[in-house]
Amino acid sequence: MKMRTIRAKVIFLFVVIFGLTLSAFSGALYFLYARQSAQNFDLSLSNDALAIVGMVKGDTFMEQEIISGLINQPFQANFGPNRYVQVVSITGNVIIRSPNLKSVALPITSEVLALALSHHQVFETLDERTARSLVDEGRLRMVTYPVFENLVPRYLVQVAANTLTLDQNMLELRLLLFISVPLAILAAALGGLFISKKAFDPIDRIIRTAQSISAEHLDKRLEAGRVDDEVTRLSKTLNAMFDRIEEAFRLQKQFTADASHELKTPLTILLGEIEVALSNPRSSEDYVRILNSAVEEIRRITKIVDELLTLARLESGQLQMQKLPIRLDELLLDSVSKTSAYASQRNIAINFEIHDESGEESEEVIVEGDEDKLLSVFINLLDNAIKYSSDNTLIGVVLTPGKDFAHVEIVDKGIGISPEDLPHIFDRFYRADKSRSSDGAQGGTGLGLSISKYLVEAHGGTLGIESVKGKGTTVTIRLPVLRSSESAEVRTTHRLHG
Ligand SMILES: Nc1ncnc2c1ncn2[C@@H]1O[C@H](COP(=O)(O)OP(=O)(O)OP(=O)(O)O)[C@@H](O)[C@H]1O
Ligand SMILES: [Mg+2]
Repeated sequence: MKMRTIRAKVIFLFVVIFGLTLSAFSGALYFLYARQSAQNFDLSLSNDALAIVGMVKGDTFMEQEIISGLINQPFQANFGPNRYVQVVSITGNVIIRSPNLKSVALPITSEVLALALSHHQVFETLDERTARSLVDEGRLRMVTYPVFENLVPRYLVQVAANTLTLDQNMLELRLLLFISVPLAILAAALGGLFISKKAFDPIDRIIRTAQSISAEHLDKRLEAGRVDDEVTRLSKTLNAMFDRIEEAFRLQKQFTADASHELKTPLTILLGEIEVALSNPRSSEDYVRILNSAVEEIRRITKIVDELLTLARLESGQLQMQKLPIRLDELLLDSVSKTSAYASQRNIAINFEIHDESGEESEEVIVEGDEDKLLSVFINLLDNAIKYSSDNTLIGVVLTPGKDFAHVEIVDKGIGISPEDLPHIFDRFYRADKSRSSDGAQGGTGLGLSISKYLVEAHGGTLGIESVKGKGTTVTIRLPVLRSSESAEVRTTHRLHG
């Protein structure tokens, strides 16, 4: 049988363990009690035998009558009516027997005799048939006690007693245990059921609520109890997870809406322009102009689709990235030269410097990663710096090599970012100044920074932005450098192959 609930398993285990323990304990208790009672019984038989020995001894030869006279009275007084006494000579002649015995003598086997003669008192339980012939009911337990005089065996004193009371007691104890142990197990099962219900009810509630939380009702939350127990912690943990799922869902929805919107705008423009062009015959200059405009829109669409593809690959971990040593200083120089034409259109100068710790100019800085991806990151950031700077300003690019990390700062004196926008600029499609950045061929899509941040982090680095509205923006990139021994190796192999 497979148990489907933890509750059933817990109760089952609890009852099994409790039942086994209780049974073992009761068994041991019964066993010890039975042994102790039997020992006590034998001891009292032995004591009685000893008392009789005391009466018999001393008289070297006692007449049967005298002994009977001696024994009979104290006999009745000292020992209960359920004591059966017999004194026999070594040869087996019955010297005396208590009156409560039937006509048959207490038996004495040759083994018992042999044992008794070797100075032992012998206990035996008479079988039922023998006992029945001697007394009316019950079993008989008997001790055979040898009496010596000057080391010569003289008599055997035999005392027997009915074990009726003892057997009755043991039967009662057995009955008590046979009834009370199952009852205790039943009570334990019921108690377990009750306790487990109390313990698992909150979990059942959590299951029911969690089941009712679906994509449509993601705002529902589990009740967290006031006491900080496991269940409350579980509820809180699940609630935090639901928060994250809800946020992820929201972002997903927003992303789909934003992406469609971003693609729809250039497509609508494209469609409008082509429709207008087709509505009437045009001059060839008009066609060229319209086609040029169409190409611009198509470029924009291609850019968005490319960026979306990159993002999707980045998020699913499918973007293939190389892991090669790169000269970061050269890479920065490259990105500066690739963007400086665009910058000079607006008379913006880009100044590139390398500072090492002491402020002196330093040599090569080597990081590990994908050259193309890192180049696109810096071009993207420089593109932002230029795009959001005023004409005739200066952009600074500063590379500071460190022991473990190289820092790159891109500083512009542009429009800056307001504190309200700053937390969102890494969100996809987020643009602080929409009017400025979304129109025209250079208009941004708001994906550049989120992609750049992803790429830098994939290189084990960080990307941060500080900005003061109206004053300017500083973007800081931190990338782990290859250790000097590794980079030295790289340089020698470069030289060998180059
Ligand atoms: N150097 C900067 N100065 C001022 N604002 C900036 C700067 N860099 C980014 N921003 C703001 O952050 C927003 C997001 O930048 P991001 O690079 O992601 O998008 P974009 O430049 O608009 O478009 P894309 O880079 O995809 O072409 C920008 O729209 C802009 O408002
Ligand atoms: Mg950008």
